[in-house]
Formats: sequence, C-alpha cells, structure tokens
Amino acid sequence: MVRSTAGTGTGTGTGTGTGTGAGSTGGAGPHDAGGSVADRVVVSQAGVRYGDLTVFDGIDLTIKDREIVSIVGPSGCGKTTLLRSVVGLTRLNSGTVTIDGKPVSGPTPGVSLVFQHFGLFPWKNVYNNVAYGLKLQKAPKEKIEQLVPEYIEMVGLAGFETSLPHQLSGGMQQRAGLARALAVEPQVLLMDEPFSAIDAQTREVLQFEMLRIWESRPIAMMFVTHSIDEAVLMGDRVVVLKGRPSHIHEVIEVGIPHPRSRETLKSPRFQEVTAHVWDLLMQDVIAAEREVS
Ligand SMILES: Nc1ncnc2c1ncn2[C@@H]1O[C@H](COP(=O)(O)OP(=O)(O)O)[C@@H](O)[C@H]1O
Ligand SMILES: [Mg+2]
Repeated sequence: MVRSTAGTGTGTGTGTGTGTGAGSTGGAGPHDAGGSVADRVVVSQAGVRYGDLTVFDGIDLTIKDREIVSIVGPSGCGKTTLLRSVVGLTRLNSGTVTIDGKPVSGPTPGVSLVFQHFGLFPWKNVYNNVAYGLKLQKAPKEKIEQLVPEYIEMVGLAGFETSLPHQLSGGMQQRAGLARALAVEPQVLLMDEPFSAIDAQTREVLQFEMLRIWESRPIAMMFVTHSIDEAVLMGDRVVVLKGRPSHIHEVIEVGIPHPRSRETLKSPRFQEVTAHVWDLLMQDVIAAEREVS
C-alpha cells in the first residue's frame, strides 16, 4: 500500500511563471539541539491570490534538512508560485513561510532557486554566471576564486568557463544554472522543473547527477516537476497539488532509500508509487476531457 495523507479536490489550470536570478548563502546548522533532523522550511496555511484568482490556499508543508520533497500538480496549479513564495519573490496573501524559524519576507539568505529556463545572463560567460550569486553577496574575492571552479567542476563544466550560454546545449546551460545555485552553498535548494526544457536522454543523465550531488551534500530540496517518474525518483516524499484553488491533495512517502540509481526505476516500490501518483493526477485529466467533449 502507498502510505499517504489524504485530501480531496479536482481541477486543472493554465499558465506558467518563471524569473531570473540566484539565491544566496547563510543559514543555521543542519541539526537542532537534540541532534535530530531539523525542519528547514515550514509553509503554514499559505495562500496566494492574483486579483479574483486564488491560486492556492491552506498549504501546510514542512521540508526537513536532507529531505527532497517533490511537488507535482496540473499546469497552473501554483507550483512556481509556491516556490517563489518560499524564496521570497512572491508575497503570500495568507499564511507564512519560515526558513530555519525566520519568516520569509523577501529574498532569503541560504535559499537558492534553479529555473526551468535556466535563468542565465546571456552576456555573461559560465564563470561569471556561476560567480553571480557570490558577487551579489559580496563574498571575498578569494572565496569566489575557490568556489566557482569547484562547482563548475562538480556539474561537469570544467573547460567551458569562458563559454557564453548560447554556445552551450540546454543540458549544459542547466548545469551552469545548477552550479550558480549551488555555489552560494545554500541550506535550501528549490528547483522549478529544472530538466523539462532538456532532451530526454540528457534529462536522465542530469537526474542521476543531481542525485549524486545531493547525496554527497544532502540539503533540503523542493523539486517541482510535471514528470511523475522524476518526482518519485528524486523525492523522499511526493506532494500532489490539486483543485481550484489548489491545495495539498495527498503527500506520499516514497520509501526508497538513497543512493538511488537506474535500478530504482525497476523496483516494485517505484512502480507502485508512480502508478498511485498517476491515478491521482489522471482522474482530473480525464474529468477535464469529459468537460470539453
Ligand atoms: N504574476 C502573476 N500575475 C497574475 N497571475 C499569475 C502571476 N503568476 C502566476 N499567475 C497565475 O497563477 C496561476 C499559477 O501559476 P504558476 O504558479 O505558474 O503555476 P504552475 O507553476 O503550477 O504551472 C496561473 O493561473 C497563472 O496564470
Ligand atoms: Mg511552473
């Protein structure tokens, strides 16, 4: 059986939203005083409205340190808006987001965002794109000179430091986006459909590289995707958003240990969880099809 917390709801939506920029560094240590894993991100009764449109409301969600929480839901249900509110780019109309106990009211140290369309500056080369967040924080020159090559190497872009984004494939551009987000050594990494604009084979390579990077330095991560397989492969939990306004319909414990590999994709548990998430999301797609036919 798939373990979950239940809810109800139907509906789909339209629209997307992304932005540009990178996060910054800072934040408290990974453990609370008792040595147990700390809550990094706490979203409480969160709601966002745009005019008459209530995108979501009543969202309660906690992301612990060293936990990857995947978020899936129909297009337009507010996944990007939710990430933007955690990184302080979108203001909540109700509820709160706290990072390490501090309320988020604007761009927050220790939180980095990786964008769907890479969000690189087209006129900056790879080195300067990766250095951007550190420079924004006014990090010392020596620190920048140490960290930038380290993260460029980590994402497999060594040798491409002077390339401009347009000279790189989509996969390589997103490697640069990832290096930029990681270079500030965030406590919380938010990823908004990071691999959706990348071809299928490269996407698979990047998924496993991302897991490898995370396994070497596990931090709290919110991973938005429209791929059910990707959500289950990456996530320790999968949050399913549904309804109008959307809300958390179900939270599924994936229950597959790390490290994960291509073998994970063949495991019975992986099949079971993906099938369950598929059922939850397809109910709405089928209902929407009936509405228009
Ligand atoms: N800045 C904005 N102004 C008005 N409406 C917006 C804005 N950003 C997003 N929306 C609307 O909010 C809803 C949720 O958008 P979004 O968070 O991008 O959804 P998702 O990422 O799940 O596809 C959509 O209907 C979208 O059109
Ligand atoms: Mg989106």
